[in-house]
Amino acid sequence: MTAGKEISLKVDHTLVQDATGTMAFLQFEAMGISRVKTEKSLIYVDHNTLQTGFENPDDHIFLQDMASNIGVIYSRPGNGICHQVNLERFAEPGKILLGADSHTPTAGGLGMLAIGVGGLDVAVAMGGGDFCLMMPKIINVKLTGALAPWASAKDIVLEVLRRLSVKGGLKTILEYTGDGIKHLTVPERATITNMGAETGATASLFPSDEITLEFLKAQGREDVWRPLAADKNAVYDQELEINLCKLEPLAACPHSPDNVKPVKELEGMKINQVVIGSCTNSSYLDLMKVAEILKGKKVHPDVSLVLACGSRQVFQMLADNGSLAEIIKSGARVLECACGPCIGMGQSPKSAGISLRTINRNFKGRSGTKDAQVYLVSPETAAASAVSGVMTDPRSLGEPFVVPNPEKFSIDDSMFIFPAYGDKEIRRGPNIKALPLKCELDRDLQGEVLLKVGDNITTDHIMPAGAKILPLRSNIPAMAEYVFEPVDPDFARRAKEKRGGIVLGGDNYGQGSSREHAALAPMYLGVTAVIAKSIARIHYDNLINFGIVPLIFMDPATYDTIGQGDRLEICGMKESVERGDEELTARNLTSGQKFSVKLLLSDRQRRVLSAGGTLNFMKAENS
Ligand code: F3S
Repeated sequence: MTAGKEISLKVDHTLVQDATGTMAFLQFEAMGISRVKTEKSLIYVDHNTLQTGFENPDDHIFLQDMASNIGVIYSRPGNGICHQVNLERFAEPGKILLGADSHTPTAGGLGMLAIGVGGLDVAVAMGGGDFCLMMPKIINVKLTGALAPWASAKDIVLEVLRRLSVKGGLKTILEYTGDGIKHLTVPERATITNMGAETGATASLFPSDEITLEFLKAQGREDVWRPLAADKNAVYDQELEINLCKLEPLAACPHSPDNVKPVKELEGMKINQVVIGSCTNSSYLDLMKVAEILKGKKVHPDVSLVLACGSRQVFQMLADNGSLAEIIKSGARVLECACGPCIGMGQSPKSAGISLRTINRNFKGRSGTKDAQVYLVSPETAAASAVSGVMTDPRSLGEPFVVPNPEKFSIDDSMFIFPAYGDKEIRRGPNIKALPLKCELDRDLQGEVLLKVGDNITTDHIMPAGAKILPLRSNIPAMAEYVFEPVDPDFARRAKEKRGGIVLGGDNYGQGSSREHAALAPMYLGVTAVIAKSIARIHYDNLINFGIVPLIFMDPATYDTIGQGDRLEICGMKESVERGDEELTARNLTSGQKFSVKLLLSDRQRRVLSAGGTLNFMKAENS
């Protein structure tokens, strides 16, 4: 278990959501395996619940039929956001969860080792395959003291982001310890582990203690509890200490979750929209605090407040105890329990609008409005600001109130459809297209630089989402038309005209979500390699999974010497991959210059890349 060495994990649970699940299911099907081999596998329909055309409902039916046949539990649209519902009903301390969603680490709040990966890795795990990764370094985040009034779990994780940045967690696991933990409920811990993903961390982990047991009891699931804590003599690669007493309400300013400032420095800024919800902050306790703040008040006339509970359980409980009535009376617009505005599915802000959101990401354009300014804040800051019409430090509300932990959550699993393990015919709408497959890796790599991009390019830049594009997720030829659209709308046309080529990236290329379409759709357009200063972990793995060669400049300064349109070549690429060469010589055929690139692959990744991707590899293994 040395950091940087490949390890393989036996996966207990898997999770996909509809945006990644259609593809994962098509991939599972293509492997020719009839039943899932995990202890528990789930599909949550929470991303594309808007039905503006036939595509989404058709996909939901496909997912429901497939789930039933192959042994996956199906969570119906309206039942809630995957990570919130999973925490409530399925997460188990000490188990390993692999999820095709970058915020899968949310379940770490309950002591589960939960990792976000591409859908293909999940499909492989569903088929009984191990999950292989480089052993991460472990950062100990020690929390001491207790939060001051009006500071929240969101402020803790914003402080982690302020210190570590959106790159500081790359190839690490954030393990939380310290006496501050005992003041945090499981949903608060889950807010922290959720946004650990924004640091690039592989996972974030809290111990499983008495508080975990209380939560599980209230969910009627105490039988899955077991105590888990760090060894007394545990040694860490890095330590970070946060004194909770000193934290104040914070906000991540546009356009990055690590651009963190105290709310009081931003006070008085006029706002146009407030969005409360998402898998980060939509638990019962979050929404109860919001309801308390809104009670007897009205949303400011210049502000649109939209709100979505994270799960039907939360929604039901707010309805039962009258809090929902307070929220409605305030003038808030209540949405269904789903990702909604977080993924750009409706509720885009006005042009150049300022939107305060309790979500986890504020990348430019993700809200659906290119010039909107999105600030990430706690539910308390969001609700206080919705009433005042300006950015408001919740401490100005005076004495804080206490929302007691519920002794019993409202439990109703009727929106899950449990598998029938039948052979029923799968209904496939016209939006479900066959999976594009790649040939095995070419002997030599040769191609034109189709696009040169800067640092911190996200998967949203590479394969944007939103109401227009997401419904095409199982129709790759149609979806590929939008590859790199926010950066260069001509990219898809050029890639097709040149019959593919190479993408040049800066630092932290492919950060953000686990969206495997950000590798699959470029592969369809003929992208054969990405050469960058550095590549985000999940995207690096996704590139390999789809047969695209991920290369890192040995000398980052080489990036400046290569231009868009240059032709590059690496002779003997396939042989180098198979041999395990870590340093390769590339040639810029346009300038005549030679340069070195790094290719770090495990044994398995070498074989996958050589075969042209995981699907080809698995098919060969199973035949
Ligand atoms: Fe959904 Fe946004 Fe979370 S898209 S899963 S609510 S990050």
